[in-house]
Amino acid sequence: MSNVKLLLVEGYQEMSKVAAQLFAQEVKRKPDLVLGLATGGTPVGMYEELIRMHRTEGLSFSQATSFNLDEYVGLEAQHPQSYRTYMQEHLFGQIDMAAERTNIPRGDAQDLEQECSRYEQAIAEAGGIDIQVLGIGTNGHIGFNEPGSSASSKTRVVQLTPSTIEANARFFESVEEVPTQAVSMGIATILGAKKIVLLASGEAKAQAVRDMLEGEMTPDVPASLLQMHDDVTVIVDAPAASLLSAVTIGRAKTE
Ligand code: F6R
Repeated sequence: MSNVKLLLVEGYQEMSKVAAQLFAQEVKRKPDLVLGLATGGTPVGMYEELIRMHRTEGLSFSQATSFNLDEYVGLEAQHPQSYRTYMQEHLFGQIDMAAERTNIPRGDAQDLEQECSRYEQAIAEAGGIDIQVLGIGTNGHIGFNEPGSSASSKTRVVQLTPSTIEANARFFESVEEVPTQAVSMGIATILGAKKIVLLASGEAKAQAVRDMLEGEMTPDVPASLLQMHDDVTVIVDAPAASLLSAVTIGRAKTE
């Protein structure tokens, strides 16, 4: 498990609260920080908690910059299923972030290669990501770095696997509508973040969580490559932790 810090929590709500606290702590420490953000079902509760803190505790994001992990190829920003729309609905539209400092790859760019290098460069120019939130795919992907992604990969166009397309079909009218490609930060881009917080909730993630923490570091399980980073916190709820060994559980912290 290397030096990955594992926090075991009861369920989704507690996971979301603990994660939001970690983020809020960083925002208070460095108001002009660079956030690395994710989409999908997992971070919704954490975003809700950050919105609550913004509304009731005055947590401000007015000086922050953000970079999202990924975006579907072919969807324009206004598309209802684009990650830009998701972020607007679940976070940006409800806090005080400056719109011009929220970055998401343009999946509808004419020249996708150029968009990928522009995105990498923008992250570097912003000084790198201070804290990155990640979910995990049932196949161990992080961002849209599917199995086989190398540790040195940067932002690029990736092909989504059938299992990822299937898993994401719940956000679309039908599986045929799910784009088959995405622009995604690479593993090296993610490893470049100063702090990483990975969230996993639900039984469907149990095998991936076990492979990430107890398996060897391999591109076959992209999340296992996080073991080479020295500041990773993994927050796992009871169903997602259900396949972990007694040794791993014994080393974990309970909140
Ligand atoms: C989202 C992303 C993906 C998701 C992962 C888990 O921006 O990059 O890696 O974090 O697919 O998705 P959910 O949270 O929907 O289970």
